[in-house]
Amino acid sequence: MNILIVGDVVARPGRAVLEEQLARIQHEHDIDATIVNVENSAAGFGVTKKLVDQFMNMNIDIMTSGNHIWDKREALDFIGDYPRLLRPHNYPSGTPGSGWGEFTTKSGIRVGVLNMMGQAFMHPPLDSPFECADRVLSEKLDTIDVVVVDYHAETTSEKVGMGWYLDGKVSVVVGTHTHIPTADERLLHKGTAYVTDLGMTGCYDSVIGSDTGNVLKRMVSKLPVRLEPATGKGTLCGVVVDVDEKTGCARSIKRIKAEQDPLG
Ligand SMILES: [Fe+2]
Repeated sequence: MNILIVGDVVARPGRAVLEEQLARIQHEHDIDATIVNVENSAAGFGVTKKLVDQFMNMNIDIMTSGNHIWDKREALDFIGDYPRLLRPHNYPSGTPGSGWGEFTTKSGIRVGVLNMMGQAFMHPPLDSPFECADRVLSEKLDTIDVVVVDYHAETTSEKVGMGWYLDGKVSVVVGTHTHIPTADERLLHKGTAYVTDLGMTGCYDSVIGSDTGNVLKRMVSKLPVRLEPATGKGTLCGVVVDVDEKTGCARSIKRIKAEQDPLG
């Protein structure tokens, strides 16, 4: 089966390129399952119910997130009604929503998605993602053919560590959050496809999605300048992973990148 995983959708440019390019990519790569990280989709911070409804109409199977999931506070209220919208699973028990999502593809393959957040330089500090993954995998795997992990973390080392920790236990581990795609996509030794960061789906004429002028003002002056999302054309970044659904092992992982039509 072919799984498309799309990196963090940031603000309007991210939404625009996703809307423009998603169906074409799904068709060209014969995609069976689509996972998109949406935590920055509302003006760069958080996600609204209205946007989740729009994503649900775009042939997206699971939406993942991370540290910005509650930036639009309405998410606390509506996430319980959207089992396909995940928040990091290593939040304390009792947190609204879940970081584990399941669906069955048209051809009957049962896919589980686990969304977790790293601990280094991430706020708030959450429970151990390693123990969280162990717990989930010991409980859920009987009914699932393929498991995809979105590990939302800041440091490359923590993400690589999670890749090796889960090698052979899940089909795919992708990193998100740092918004710049890394070139280390590969199959690990026991059959897990891995990449350190998918990169964002948003405007790359920016500083990881925010308007460059304001970011530089803040960086240079050290003053609390308000950041605004960049407004140029979007680029979609992600990976396509071919997984053998009988074994759960990945056969290949390749990076994809699609530019928004400059005239569109
Ligand atoms: Fe993030």
